[in-house]
Amino acid sequence: MRMFLFKIITGLIIVGAGSAQAVAESTSAMTPESIHIQRCSACHYVDGKPPSEEFPHIAGQYEQYLLKALKLFKQGQRESEAMELITSLHREQELVILANHYAKQKPADSPANAAPDQPLVARGLQLYNSERVYGISCADCHGPDAKGYVRSTPRTRVSRAIPRLAGQQSPYIKAKLMKYTGAENVKPQAGMCGMRKAGKTLNQNDIDALVEFLSSK
Ligand code: HEC
Ligand code: HEC
Repeated sequence: MRMFLFKIITGLIIVGAGSAQAVAESTSAMTPESIHIQRCSACHYVDGKPPSEEFPHIAGQYEQYLLKALKLFKQGQRESEAMELITSLHREQELVILANHYAKQKPADSPANAAPDQPLVARGLQLYNSERVYGISCADCHGPDAKGYVRSTPRTRVSRAIPRLAGQQSPYIKAKLMKYTGAENVKPQAGMCGMRKAGKTLNQNDIDALVEFLSSK
């Protein structure tokens, strides 16, 4: 990963040479290309379906969620060597355009794991539907089909998204759940308190089963 990151960063400096031009353009004239979406494509491709299992799928993820994630990285509240660096190169308005671009891509239409271990999937399904915190299950928040959703509060006009998990890569789901368990050797992930509370109820075997189940969706 380190060597790979180094190569990307060296590439970014070259790509970055044109960014003064992008700043001069008005926001409405900005396109994903004019703000150098090629910075993202090395790890997420332009269509959001990544070249390697190391990187998350972001195609068709909810715009509100993508933007929130990008802002958390930029503010140093969500840990990732690559993403903290890359978001620091973009202004917030550019992150809005990139989130919108990836949200418009077609989500993965086949599961990440085509041949999952069926008994483990069954155990994962049971855990996914069981009460975790405040009588709420994973399914209550992420949806029975793990596709997440957006909820808007008409009065405050705030809309919040629960991320889609279906089609996501297994190693990424696993790494995320490990962070949410609050295990001492892993820095806890910034994010909604309900998700952190749910994560704390999981042990290693639960995580393996949930990952198997989710990657079969
Ligand atoms: C060097 C590789 C690399 C590059 C380049 C890169 N990313 Fe990422 N991206 C990652 C990794 C790794 C993660 C997972 C971080 C984590 O563990 O939370 C990630 C996570 C994300 C997430 C959060 C996904 C989720 O499901 O929570 C978003 C959104 C994102 N990247 C968008 C972008 C955008 C937009 C760009 C270009 C401006 C970009 N990335 C460039 C590697 C990269
Ligand atoms: C109270 C609602 C709630 C519950 C219950 C919940 N989640 Fe979440 N989950 C969320 C929210 C909101 C996020 C995004 C947090 C953020 O914005 O960083 C999330 C994030 C995630 C992510 C990371 C997604 C990504 O793209 O990075 C995974 C994986 C996940 N949840 C799996 C689960 C599993 C498995 C369970 C059950 C053990 C569960 N969640 C229970 C609300 C919930």
